[in-house]
Parts: sequence; structure tokens; C-alpha cells
Amino acid sequence: MSNIPKLFEYQPEEPITIPVLVGEKLVLRPCVAADLPAVMAYRTDPANSQYIGNVDDKERVQQIVAQHSSPWRLESGRWNGIIMCEKSVNAASVSELDWQQTKLVVSNESTVDSTLHLYGDLVGEIVFRIDDWENQRAEIGYRLSPKYTGNGYCTEAVKLLVSYLFKHFELHKVIARCDPRNIASYRVMEKVGMVREAHFHQHFLVRGEWTDQLDYSVIRENWRY
Ligand SMILES: CC(C)(COP(=O)(O)OP(=O)(O)OC[C@H]1O[C@@H](n2cnc3c(N)ncnc32)[C@H](O)[C@@H]1OP(=O)(O)O)[C@@H](O)C(=O)NCCC(=O)NCCS
Repeated sequence: MSNIPKLFEYQPEEPITIPVLVGEKLVLRPCVAADLPAVMAYRTDPANSQYIGNVDDKERVQQIVAQHSSPWRLESGRWNGIIMCEKSVNAASVSELDWQQTKLVVSNESTVDSTLHLYGDLVGEIVFRIDDWENQRAEIGYRLSPKYTGNGYCTEAVKLLVSYLFKHFELHKVIARCDPRNIASYRVMEKVGMVREAHFHQHFLVRGEWTDQLDYSVIRENWRY
């Protein structure tokens, strides 16, 4: 057995196929162009960005959907996305194979009514970036449409994604950050067993107001999912 973490088997710029991750209530799947209206709805809603920063305009959301639709890359600082969907009644048939099929159909703009229906309604997005390659550390972030909050969806999405990151890249540590007023966000971190490591005071200037930041983390050996 090699002691070299799987992360170092990748080149930072190497494209990585986005997985399909199936949970109890959710399926995480790659983003496609047809997701734009749903992502646009929550990302342009000022309430959604209340504790994050500036509200995205239409152009920025188009860029984000394009970026989330492209393969993951592990170069430090690049955000990689995956879409959260409600698990539909057809979810038993959701598989990587279905996804390959979906992608083929969705890439043909005229026939968007594809196997996408297998994946249920779009709930939100969860993202990660390699925060520090040498020290095998990644950061995660998440946003949900307000229609779907309060159902434990984000907690499940974090469990699915972080389990995947630890297993496939053998990262040493995963971190998450939020504004201390964003209780729902840090409750998600606490529910999955992340620990609070720092409270930075007046750390970011957001819409003219100095805001604090909480840092949470989990080390691979303490991850229990
Ligand atoms: C933060 C966010 C992703 C959480 O998503 P979610 O699916 O509702 O999260 P979950 O249901 O998995 O868990 C939220 C937890 O916070 C709790 N919570 C929410 N608001 C709370 C409050 N004001 N006080 C105490 N607990 C609160 C919920 O009760 C739940 O805990 P429980 O399951 O123990 O009851 C969602 O609210 C969101 O998208 N917000 C806008 C974007 C954002 O701020 N993203 C995070 C940036 S750091």
C-alpha cells in the first residue's frame, strides 16, 4: 500500500468527471445548461446572499452554471460544483449510466426533456475547492433555494460530498466558513461533526459593513460517514 494520498495522483489542471452521488433524500448530479432558470432564481434573490456577499447578476449566474457544468479541476482555489436534486420516485434507476445518457440528450438543446426527470427538482448547489494542495485541505460551500430549506437537505449533501472527497482524494482536512449570524449554515457544519476552529472579527467588508467569520473543520480520521 502506498502512503501517497490519492490527491497527488492527479494533476491540478486535470479534468475530473463529476460523479452522481445518491443519498436518502437527495441525488447530487452534475450541473447542465437546463439548470440555469432554477439556479438564477435563488442566486439573484438578495435574501439568499444575505450572509455571503454581493447578489449575483444574470451574467454572473450564467458563468457559474457554465463553470459548475464543466469537469472538476483540483487546482488550488478553483470552485467545483455539483447540483442537489430531490430524489424522485424514479431514483432507483438513477445511475452513472443514466447520467451519461442525460448529458448526451441535454447537450442537444432542442431535446431537454430527457432523463433529467429521474433526478427530481433542483434544490441547490454544493461546491468545493482545494484550499491548500500541499496540505491536502479543501473548503466547501453551499446554497439552497429557499423553497427547500429546513428539510435536512444541506446536511445530507455535505455528508455525501465530503465522504466522496475524503474517499476519492484522501484529503486530510475539509473546512467550511460562514458569517456567525448564519445559524442555519453553521448548524449544518455542527450536525456533520465539524468543529469550530476560529472566530475572526470584522474580517470581511460586505456591502459596507464589517462582518465576522466562523471557521469549522473536520479531519479525515474523525469523519464518521
Ligand atoms: C444554510 C443553508 C444552506 C442550510 O440549508 P438547509 O437544507 O436548510 O439545512 P439543514 O436543514 O440541513 O440544517 C439546518 C439546521 O439549522 C437549523 N436552523 C436554521 N435556522 C436556525 C436558527 N435561526 N436558529 C437555530 N437553528 C436554526 C435547522 O433547524 C437545522 O437544524 P436541525 O436539523 O437540527 O433542526 C440554507 O439556509 C441556505 O441556502 N441559505 C442561504 C445561502 C447561505 O447562506 N449559504 C451558506 C453560506 S456560508
